[in-house]
Amino acid sequence: MGFKEEIARRRTFGIVSHPDAGKTTLTEKLLLFGGAIQEAGAVKSNKIKKGATSDFMEIERQRGISVATSVLAFEYNGIKINILDTPGHKDFAEDTFRTLTAVDSVIVVIDVAKGVEEQTEKLVEVCRMRHIPIIVFINKLDREGKDAFDLLDEIEQKLGLTVIPLSFPIGMGYDFKGIYNLWENNLNLFTGDSRKDIEETIEITDLSDPSLNELVGESSADQLREEIELVQEVYPAFDKTAYLEGELQPVFFGSALNNFGVRELLDCFVTIAPPPRPKQSEERLVKPDERKFTGFVFKIHANMDPNHRDRLAFVKIVSGEFKRNTPYLHVRHNKKLKFSSPNAFFAEKKQIVDVSFPGDIVGLHDTGNFKIGDTLTEGEIINYKGIPSFSPEHFRYINNADPMKAKQLYKGIDQLMDEGVAQLFTLDMNGRKVIGTVGALQYEVIQYRLEHEYGAKCTYENLNVHKACWIEASEENSEEFAEFKRVKQRYLARDKQGHLVFLADSAFSLQMTEQKYPSIKFHLSSEYD
Ligand code: G4P
Repeated sequence: MGFKEEIARRRTFGIVSHPDAGKTTLTEKLLLFGGAIQEAGAVKSNKIKKGATSDFMEIERQRGISVATSVLAFEYNGIKINILDTPGHKDFAEDTFRTLTAVDSVIVVIDVAKGVEEQTEKLVEVCRMRHIPIIVFINKLDREGKDAFDLLDEIEQKLGLTVIPLSFPIGMGYDFKGIYNLWENNLNLFTGDSRKDIEETIEITDLSDPSLNELVGESSADQLREEIELVQEVYPAFDKTAYLEGELQPVFFGSALNNFGVRELLDCFVTIAPPPRPKQSEERLVKPDERKFTGFVFKIHANMDPNHRDRLAFVKIVSGEFKRNTPYLHVRHNKKLKFSSPNAFFAEKKQIVDVSFPGDIVGLHDTGNFKIGDTLTEGEIINYKGIPSFSPEHFRYINNADPMKAKQLYKGIDQLMDEGVAQLFTLDMNGRKVIGTVGALQYEVIQYRLEHEYGAKCTYENLNVHKACWIEASEENSEEFAEFKRVKQRYLARDKQGHLVFLADSAFSLQMTEQKYPSIKFHLSSEYD
């Protein structure tokens, strides 16, 4: 197969949802279709279970699983599918945001009873900003839930999407009879036994066909006819270009647990979802079919075994072929690196591969060279954009609790920050170090990992910070900027890249500071235009 065909047959995507909507179940059913796994229950959920174990033990367990599920690849009808795993837990939202820089499209899973939930809103907003094509899967139709039209309205309003149902449910919960598939013009009857893969698909090209009454009963058939008429009146026709530009979102209904409506989703997905897309670097737009290899690191995973401190850096290939044992330029370090055992992913297994193509993810063993956002090329100096840091929600001083282990502590902090576990700020005034995180859980993780992986001990001290704002001054030498720096000295810090950050102690003080220094801009993300 030629280079261009290899690119054209790849689909790299992420499944995003609020915890419990059914992401793991859907992933598993997709893998079953690809023949990548043999039985249900094979994909382990990486969600944080509430239970007897303490939080950080739970996180360690989750971390072990998430190495295995970081990338799940399988083949379906000649299409190579790469599913990138995204943690649903809100404390790990940054990981998910970063993974979204490496996907070419997403599937959003929504629970029919719960509707649009908080995490879904945040994640979809990021997808929308990046114009990532989205397909929505409404799950758990075997249970009572919201009316389909109400739910479609809710999705449009809360998520800011323009939806087009490509399938439509017949009843729900106890009365769930099946799905009419507008994409394929057929009827899928729910026997309640489709767990055993008995899914009856009946071609119905004309809904006025009286056989519909026999199949689902007269009243359900009439209702379906009315509803489909309404769908066709109210919603726009499916337009693939609009979908690819992120302006139109097809919706499917089903029940992942019952393996119902999943094949329909997959068949439509492989037909319409985009192959690897061009990616913007700071210097230029890079197309996947360029012959020279480029890629970027979107995730770093530390080894669970403290005796083997190597890490796995996940690289998304943007262009060209990635070959084993070939020197590539690590742009930030201006240094050539060769990789003798790059890992590719297949279902839940890793294997060493000689060649990978755009859209694929390779896992590279790393002894501390990489951090998230790094670019690799064949020699060209380009830097991929788009892995910003957002203001953390929690801030604490970190102190060394064992003076003999200062070196270990700083090395540990440094490496954990490169992995993207949290953000480090150093106060301008006195050099004290502040750890900022999205969720409170990360403090336990950091403490635990510093001790177990680096032999260092730390304590935390509370610090009252509302938000970290990256500062953009239109004139670095202006009097206003000098005054700002003098007056706010106590609140100024540097992030890991050395950028100036204002640690505002309240929303009010941030607002007052913005008013007082109008020539200075305060950004809640490290990347701004
Ligand atoms: P997540 O990864 O999005 O967090 O969700 P997950 O797939 O783990 O699903 C959450 C719960 O919802 C699971 O139940 C799962 O069995 C159930 N579920 C998923 N899809 C469907 C569906 O189509 N219909 C129904 N009725 N339930 C569904 P659980 O009790 O939390 O876990 P488990 O003990 O079944 O594993």
